[in-house]
Amino acid sequence: MSKSFELPKELLLGSATAATQIEGGDVNNNWYHWSLAGKVGNGESSITGADHYNKYVEDVELLSELHHECYRMSIEWSRIEPEQGKWSSEGVEHYRDEFRRLIQKGIKPLVTLHHFSCPQWYQEKGGWLSENAVEDFIRFVKFSVETFGDQISEWCTINEPNVFANDSYMDGKYPPGGHGDIAAYMKVTKRMVIAHLKSYKLIHQIRKEKGFAGETKVGFAHHIAIFEPLNSHPLAKLGCFLSDYLFHEIHMKGFVEGKLVFPLGSGYPEGKGIFCDFMGINYYSRHLFKASYNPGNLFATPMVDPTIPESSKNDLGWEIYPEGLYKVCQRTWKRYKLPIYITENGIPDEKDEKREKYIIDHLYQLKRLLDDGIKVERYYYWSFLDNLEWNDGYGPRFGLVEVDYSNMKRKPRPSALRYAKICRTKKIVRP
Ligand code: GAL
Repeated sequence: MSKSFELPKELLLGSATAATQIEGGDVNNNWYHWSLAGKVGNGESSITGADHYNKYVEDVELLSELHHECYRMSIEWSRIEPEQGKWSSEGVEHYRDEFRRLIQKGIKPLVTLHHFSCPQWYQEKGGWLSENAVEDFIRFVKFSVETFGDQISEWCTINEPNVFANDSYMDGKYPPGGHGDIAAYMKVTKRMVIAHLKSYKLIHQIRKEKGFAGETKVGFAHHIAIFEPLNSHPLAKLGCFLSDYLFHEIHMKGFVEGKLVFPLGSGYPEGKGIFCDFMGINYYSRHLFKASYNPGNLFATPMVDPTIPESSKNDLGWEIYPEGLYKVCQRTWKRYKLPIYITENGIPDEKDEKREKYIIDHLYQLKRLLDDGIKVERYYYWSFLDNLEWNDGYGPRFGLVEVDYSNMKRKPRPSALRYAKICRTKKIVRP
């Protein structure tokens, strides 16, 4: 592995966040109510966040000081539509100002419309299981694109539909806390596919009709992990195959190709075509599948490779496996030839001992992809700031920038300064 390498200027480097994880202060989203019910670790609450809603001016300055070229963020649906059908001018003005400041600083925004949270009124109607789930979401998409479309040309419709449906209906971690409800997993997945396909068309249509400047780019952020059987046991292989199909493949077919495949359904609900202008990939880790003789686990249980040392794990015990990034990007490129955006990639590392190497090792994989002629256009490190790691609370520290939750002070970690230099020069010298 070479000691130093360079990345092309065209590959934009930056970071990502999500509204519910950093903003704080919103009482109208379902994660606030989930927190009130004591479902977030250590009794913590989304109400605090990293106080980004009040500190966004300072945070945009910091992004700029750290030379980030692009920034992926989400808008909180409940701040825009706190009650069904009632649009909040305060929410609109807030985001318009945040976008304006980013653009002024030359930081390209990519805006996510659904990042795991929804308004409480939507949750109370049944969330993505309600009869009007898609219709309600599409109304929000239409309003958002009409309202922000002059500032925002790049949109990510839905973040990690696979993790969302799994953690909300199979693992009980996210609201409404369903357990092992595979029927709900499928129903929600199908609705999210349809919502994405409709949004894709609508976003293009609105921006075109209104004559908004800039090339419209729409995609979603797919969580793609490396799945491998632990050994040659037939159940390990079968379980790995089934998990890969239900966690990755049915989404690829749906979100990218517009095709419903078994068990979601069949055919092309919104016509044939390609419904992504970029392939958004959230990549974190590798999971090995161990035969479990329990069809409930799809015949195999995912686990971390028992042979790897602690130095190859992050603070949450996930394997650090940079080559996996090369593999997932190469596979999707071969299939669709869509420009790749690494919409998330990052590490919880409180002591900041592994982050710099983690980033460099993953950027090196991007360099390999680019050398192979694969178009990689964006890298968004997860995350800009320490934040609420959903049901795990504020413990895991993913941030380039450390947040002292006692006074909400920001402090860039040493790795943030090293990454800033990489963003500015695109030259990487291994420490
Ligand atoms: C992703 C998610 C992010 C963040 C990250 C770190 O699944 O989109 O919101 O929590 O994982 O675990």
